[in-house]
Amino acid sequence: MIEINSTSRIKGEIYVPGDKSISHRAAFLGALTRDGVEVSNFSPGQDCASTLACLEAMGCAVEQDKAFNTVKIKAPTGLKEPKDVLDAKNSGTTARLLLGLLSGIPNLFAVVTGDESLKRRPMGRVVKPLVAMGAKIDGREFGERLPLAVRGRKLSGGVHALQVASAQVKTAILLAGLGAQGATSVIEPSPTRDHTEIMLEYLGVPILKDGLRVTVYPTSSIPGGSWRIPGDFSAAAFWIVAAAITAESELRIKEVNVNPTRTGLLGVLERMGLDYAIEDETLSGGERMATVAVRSSRLKGTTVSPEEVPSLIDELPVLAVAATQAEGITEIRGARELRVKESDRIHAMAINLKALGAQIQETDDGWIIEGRTTLSGGRAKSFGDHRVAMAMAVAGLVATGPVRIEDEECVSISYPGFFDDLTKLTQTCLKEVSS
Ligand code: S3P
Repeated sequence: MIEINSTSRIKGEIYVPGDKSISHRAAFLGALTRDGVEVSNFSPGQDCASTLACLEAMGCAVEQDKAFNTVKIKAPTGLKEPKDVLDAKNSGTTARLLLGLLSGIPNLFAVVTGDESLKRRPMGRVVKPLVAMGAKIDGREFGERLPLAVRGRKLSGGVHALQVASAQVKTAILLAGLGAQGATSVIEPSPTRDHTEIMLEYLGVPILKDGLRVTVYPTSSIPGGSWRIPGDFSAAAFWIVAAAITAESELRIKEVNVNPTRTGLLGVLERMGLDYAIEDETLSGGERMATVAVRSSRLKGTTVSPEEVPSLIDELPVLAVAATQAEGITEIRGARELRVKESDRIHAMAINLKALGAQIQETDDGWIIEGRTTLSGGRAKSFGDHRVAMAMAVAGLVATGPVRIEDEECVSISYPGFFDDLTKLTQTCLKEVSS
């Protein structure tokens, strides 16, 4: 258990870990290239380690320099049938992208599983379109839950209109489409993160983007490439909110991915009164990368609409914390998807923030939060969910008493150095406690 104490300022400069979504994609696409992919600033989190382990089990050569987070990945003789079950552990992206990759490798047999949390999460959303392409997948609850068994075969493309806005599902279909017969199109109900499309373009793979529709074609050879993965905006989000809600803060977060499909939080916080700037923007691997500079801000409430949700889905737990410190009512709607993440994040954040005295009402698809509340000290549960643990640590920075977070080690899923960075930025506010 860890204890967070309040601070009045978050000052300085920080680099956050490499983007998790982009790292997964670099590994998966690297496995399909002729000459391999070499990236620096690969995500140090456990989720991306799960992806690398699954790909290694299928004969990929993975060379990692952990000191620099450099990863080289290549499958010199193609992907092979794994000798054992592939374990995606806590990582939804690993499981769903793997299903797409495996489905189209003729004759290969593999079983994909995960931890207790992942075994509860929906897989039908990816299994159904893959089955429509000809995939053979079966498993628990008629293919809805892991473990799932795949017998790879030659797939056919087609047009897939998605029911859920999900970049993981889109990516799984596009991965399957690269080896399928004919063109494969995905039509999304609303835009989701487009890292796969950007990376395919960067690697020289033909791809057609037309509004909400994206199409790939059978591709026999992808050369490979080398680039630096920008910092994870979803990791930066904790520091953006921390700096905004503490009294005398001034923070620069360097080399962050500012892909607009990811930065919805900035738009919402801007409406709430955030004092920030985007500086020194460049491109890395086709992705936008910049410094995000944030100062203490007087926030006011806002309404987050369902259309905005995909661009800030992973940032909603920490936005809920910001809302407790904003004047007036903040309403978040259309975020039912949060109930099927690593934990039921709507419930987890409502329970935790209520325990600190916040005025938060859980709705079917979001929260209604009334601020500004002075949060008290207390206990928070991570629910084994990295983003819940980190959001509650940010709440602890403005609470009047210590906030103790149970099972905080789960931050290593995406941000193993989170508490070290918290110590660096705040100097004094962290303590390990036994119970
Ligand atoms: C991700 C997509 C999002 C996001 C998840 C990572 C990705 O999930 O919440 O953390 O890397 O494609 P969905 O695909 O379910 O929207």
